[in-house]
Amino acid sequence: MVKLTLPNPKDLARRWPPGRSRPQDAEAAPAEPRPPPPLSLFFMLSHLEEDGPVRLDGVKLAVLEVMGLELDEPKLGAFAGSLNAVDFPVQLLVRQHPPVLSALRNNLMAAQPDDLPRQSKDAADSLGRLLTTLETREGILDRRFYAVCEHARMDELRGLLARAGLGVFPLAGNSLKLLLLACALGGSPNERDEEQELEVEVNRRDIRIDGHLTRSLHLGKWPRSLAPGFLQGLMAAGAPMDLSVHLGAIPTEQAARTLEWQKVRFESAQSLSFKRGRSLSPEAEIALEDVSRLRSEVQRGRERLFHASLSVTLHADDQDTLKDLTQKAKAHFAATLGKLDNLAFRQREGLLSTLPLGLNAVATWRTLDTSSLARLFPFSPPDLDTRSGTLYGIDLRACAPIVYDPFDGTHLNANTAVLARSGSGKSFATKLGVLRGLCRGVRAYVIDPEGEYTDMARAAGGQVLSPGVPGQGMNPFVIDRGDSEELLQRIGSLRRLIEVMVGERLSAERRSSLDHALASYYAQRRKRTGFRDFYAYLEGETPEIAHLLRPFATGSLRDLLSDEGDDLLTHEALVTVFDLHLLEPELRPAAAMVCTETVWAAAAQDPRPRLLVVDEVWSIMQHPEGAAFMVSMAKRARKHRLGLQFITQDVQDLLSEDNSRTITGHSGRALLQNAAFKLLLQQDAAAVSAVGEAFDLPEELQRWLLSCPRGDGLLLARGNRFPVRIEATPEETEVIEWRPGPRH
Ligand SMILES: Nc1ncnc2c1ncn2[C@@H]1O[C@H](COP(=O)(O)OP(=O)(O)OP(=O)(O)O)[C@@H](O)[C@H]1O
Ligand SMILES: [Mg+2]
Repeated sequence: MVKLTLPNPKDLARRWPPGRSRPQDAEAAPAEPRPPPPLSLFFMLSHLEEDGPVRLDGVKLAVLEVMGLELDEPKLGAFAGSLNAVDFPVQLLVRQHPPVLSALRNNLMAAQPDDLPRQSKDAADSLGRLLTTLETREGILDRRFYAVCEHARMDELRGLLARAGLGVFPLAGNSLKLLLLACALGGSPNERDEEQELEVEVNRRDIRIDGHLTRSLHLGKWPRSLAPGFLQGLMAAGAPMDLSVHLGAIPTEQAARTLEWQKVRFESAQSLSFKRGRSLSPEAEIALEDVSRLRSEVQRGRERLFHASLSVTLHADDQDTLKDLTQKAKAHFAATLGKLDNLAFRQREGLLSTLPLGLNAVATWRTLDTSSLARLFPFSPPDLDTRSGTLYGIDLRACAPIVYDPFDGTHLNANTAVLARSGSGKSFATKLGVLRGLCRGVRAYVIDPEGEYTDMARAAGGQVLSPGVPGQGMNPFVIDRGDSEELLQRIGSLRRLIEVMVGERLSAERRSSLDHALASYYAQRRKRTGFRDFYAYLEGETPEIAHLLRPFATGSLRDLLSDEGDDLLTHEALVTVFDLHLLEPELRPAAAMVCTETVWAAAAQDPRPRLLVVDEVWSIMQHPEGAAFMVSMAKRARKHRLGLQFITQDVQDLLSEDNSRTITGHSGRALLQNAAFKLLLQQDAAAVSAVGEAFDLPEELQRWLLSCPRGDGLLLARGNRFPVRIEATPEETEVIEWRPGPRH
């Protein structure tokens, strides 16, 4: 039995093996050295400092977490370039284990508003249960990538990996400790009871750690040629594993000498064969060619040679599963003529090689050139799990939950664009996002031209407003006049809104007098601002523009705007739907803008995470002023912590660069550029190539988007593409698809 605790600095003297002096403080009078306690899992770890583990040989290490990237030729090229500049030993580590979602579950519980109605609460609880089942669902894994080197070389390694386009974060403190424990004990990093006693049994072909089994294997015979994505095939097999590649550069002169020697050997074999009247075997000829090519590349500095070693530690709960996983892993390498060795009686060394200690305890190496090593690129596929926020779906390629918080400040903005054909699940995905958001305190507003969200809002305990119905008018004219920049921008927004209300493009002259009227209206210290008040002011200043707005002041549209309804915040509902379906279709864009502007005014007063959904955004975008309004809103949303979600099925119109199309000019693209997240669900054949071109999607992804089932799609975020499945629990679906009627 051993205790779980990691050794700490004061244990160093005690743990240092007898007969050897400690390199760190050899001068100081050494305490009486005693053999290390039987901490068999950490037997090469001296202790853990705040920013790195210290090995028993005194070497302090840095452990960097690396963010995954999608694999493609340019990235492999960049990675090869970085490898060429590495001249110190590096360990690359991939860990994939069932996810631990308890922290996320607890955070979601803690963020639940007190006033959740029963049905929403049931939905929130069911999401908690879904997270629990994901922890044990077959094939779902949390994959993380690390790089380890001597602490002194950390900045160099960071720089090199960053040059290859990889995001790198050094681990320290608790996250470092949890990683070390997880590496030794298996599983994803997780808080553990360190006082717990563990039983560790090192067997011939496996190690049993408290009822859980690990088996380490070593790549004894490397595949003849490594294809890009080779390791990803192994990871996709879905086994919990720690895979470690150790590498060290061979100095160029030594590499050139070795290659020269090999070349001479082949050449003498060739001349010997010729003398005997035979020619060289085809294999030997290829080998000679390879060596000659490599030698000249090495001499030119384009390639280098490395010592490399690959070990895998598999994890399972029982012998049968372990056997099965071992067979799968071996078969993967055998398919390319490689061979994974069993490491009989060397399981400790095997396990040690996959701990983040920069040690290849198995001690066998293979020589590889830069290009081959680069093709091993282990930092792929990426996933989108920032471990905070809420669940957005399941990543179908990385087999991992997609978890993020658009409002956590690490993204460009919190905006999402949803583009897909009719009936592909756009509204379903959006409603699910609204529901999961409101269950963690993110208030939502929905601009709903078709009246699609009203039932869901009622079921979730929200409110439905129908601008245009007496008593439900909006007041977007409230501006905080203390903030001059905000004032200027809002005046611009109101001017665009008025232009869309008027229904015609104003002449330059009228536009400037409208601007002037707005500016002078707000310059006066009025206590309360509102449309009717402004209208009265306008009648005195520029009666011809006032005349155009008359229907909104006294005519048939007088109920759209009011001087009162600016108190969205007084009793802010969990979700507020602006139901526009009763309005004439030609009025909806103006009404949608009125609502958007009113939400903006509320967000400016009290910034906190809020979601504003604009469905059928094309109806606003088809007016030049409406398009400019939306783009400017998307650019500014972040300022007041607003996340815009715009939805459209008219993908072609949105992406078109043709000014004569309904959506004007480049504003559709500008709108997309201002969305950090883009969700592409099923596309129709007419639109798919425009989508493919706009988002630079390879052919196979375009084909997939044509045929993927409803609710599946591609999420574009952080420069990567994530194939996603949007999955709701039955309780959530009940809220999303709730219909009033005799059934309820
Ligand atoms: N992820 C999903 N899981 C389960 N069912 C789904 C999912 N997505 C969509 N559906 C089903 O498909 C139906 C149509 O989806 P939805 O109304 O969201 O499509 P849409 O893209 O908004 O269509 P439209 O363009 O007509 O507005 C939904 O009523 C729902 O039953
Ligand atoms: Mg819809």
